[in-house]
Amino acid sequence: MSARLINGKEVSQQILAELAQKVAERKNKGLRAPCLAVVLVGSDPASQVYVRNKKTACAKVGFESRSYELPAETPQEELLSLVDKLNADNGVDGILVQLPLPPHIDGQAVLERILPHKDVDGFHPYNVGRLVVKMPLMRPCTPKGVMTLLAHCGINPEGKKAVVVGASNIVGRPQMLELLLARATVTICHSKTQNLAAEVGAADIVVAGVGIPNFVKGAWIKPGAVVIDVGINRLDDGSLCGDVEFAAAAERAAMITPVPGGVGPMTIATLMENTLHAAELHDGKPAA
Ligand code: GUN
Repeated sequence: MSARLINGKEVSQQILAELAQKVAERKNKGLRAPCLAVVLVGSDPASQVYVRNKKTACAKVGFESRSYELPAETPQEELLSLVDKLNADNGVDGILVQLPLPPHIDGQAVLERILPHKDVDGFHPYNVGRLVVKMPLMRPCTPKGVMTLLAHCGINPEGKKAVVVGASNIVGRPQMLELLLARATVTICHSKTQNLAAEVGAADIVVAGVGIPNFVKGAWIKPGAVVIDVGINRLDDGSLCGDVEFAAAAERAAMITPVPGGVGPMTIATLMENTLHAAELHDGKPAA
């Protein structure tokens, strides 16, 4: 392996330490700790792990967290009522509804019910639109975390060719916007992209978020490129792997994120940053 490993765990720990310091400063000023409400519907094992990690991160930085675990059969109206209640609750700064939701629930309707300034995921169309016009309020956690990671590694995307593989609302689309706002020349690839190998092979920065193990082949990577792997896939043997063929990509890349320990911890640290931001927006304001 010739690539330098990008240590997302270490960077995320620095961010969490800085946030803990900011919570202490808030307390000195008589302000309360930020509070994140996390809503989980059903018992998807991966979602349970993610929700647990989010609550643990809250505890680590001194945030309050509230947990709402609802059965998979919960009617949509009931979930919307819970969101309304959390929107109106002055003690709650951020609201996160874990995705995916069960098929009988219209996920977009739920995300649009969250007040934009409490939408710590940045998924509400208001927040998506603000990102498009370069006036972000809440930025989606994973793409924002990737930008933080690049900055920590001294990588400035300006003028670089960035290729995003995957066009999801959670990762690919907002990642495309983040890289564009950082003045990269961005290509976004998806299931209908022709000659993906050539697109990826032209990239100075590759961000992969497709949710398919080892989808991006190491041989496609341009020598000296930076490779950011957003995928977290569990294999049959229980091990985790990313969306990029790690060992082969690491032979060619200058820098690469590992899985686990790359982007995953950055997503959680960024969620904590967004929750503090939500609390700052909330300070001194009445409920909705
Ligand atoms: N499921 C997978 N990633 C995410 C995320 O970033 N936020 C939420 N709410 N659900 C997810």
